[in-house]
Amino acid sequence: MKIIDTVAGLRTTVARWRANGERIALVPTMGNLHTGHLQLVEQARENAHRVIVSIFVNPMQFSDLSGDGGDFERYPRTFDEDRKKLSAIDHPPDVIFSPAVQAMYPAGFQQETRIEVPEISNMLCGEYRPGHFVGVATVVAKLLNMAQPDVAVFGEKDFQQLRVIRRLVNDLCFPVEIIGVPTVREKNGLAMSSRNAYLSDEERQRAALLYQTLQQAKQQIQAGEKDFAMIQTQAIAKLSEAGFRPEYVEIRRTEDLQKATNADEHRVILVAAWLGEARLIDNIVVEKQE
Ligand code: PAF
Repeated sequence: MKIIDTVAGLRTTVARWRANGERIALVPTMGNLHTGHLQLVEQARENAHRVIVSIFVNPMQFSDLSGDGGDFERYPRTFDEDRKKLSAIDHPPDVIFSPAVQAMYPAGFQQETRIEVPEISNMLCGEYRPGHFVGVATVVAKLLNMAQPDVAVFGEKDFQQLRVIRRLVNDLCFPVEIIGVPTVREKNGLAMSSRNAYLSDEERQRAALLYQTLQQAKQQIQAGEKDFAMIQTQAIAKLSEAGFRPEYVEIRRTEDLQKATNADEHRVILVAAWLGEARLIDNIVVEKQE
């Protein structure tokens, strides 16, 4: 497992692999790796000869643009632990790409070209974190250009992010296949996330309610409830009563994340809520039943 921190170094390695006709997978991360990330690496390995894991805490997606400047500073940086976790898995990645901010944004990220996927970036999480998905789209586009992978792997927990990335890749004609990997959960149902580190033990137990609430809302839809606004309101009330500070619970179409109706076949319920110091997100897909 080689550690590379320059774009030139990555390009040289990638060029050698390409010359051998090898298939390359990229797993973009911001580090602080958990089992969910290791699952992404496993999926990458099944789809390519060579696997690159990038570890880069991207200031552009935390910037004051997105209203949570402080979150960038406190985001856990755990490179040594991450390296150990990656080298301990059955098939470790070939490369960890961990550039400094200066290597990714030589002119400073405020000055550099940025990419906006319209509409879908400004709803749901985008409404609460303005500019966040511009930061995500820009850094993912840069990483795809740097690593030139055949496939790139992302978690489905970040459902909206995955939609933004699929649109970006389609609109800008990146020759890469995007693979989404199902959310990995704790025993109590809590979706694994780097941000769970901000939860106390008691909150970690209580946080299970997030997924339970999604499951209940799904059951209501499957039982024939057509009043989606009512389902959303009930879910928000339930989370608030349990001490969460919900931002939204929304039933949307999976394809474009527009509001769903009972007539839509592919729907997803998305939630974002604060518990203590942690902003948690999760989702559950609800397919229309025959
Ligand atoms: O999901 C993440 O960890 C980040 O948003 C990503 C995709 C690595 C971009 O910085």
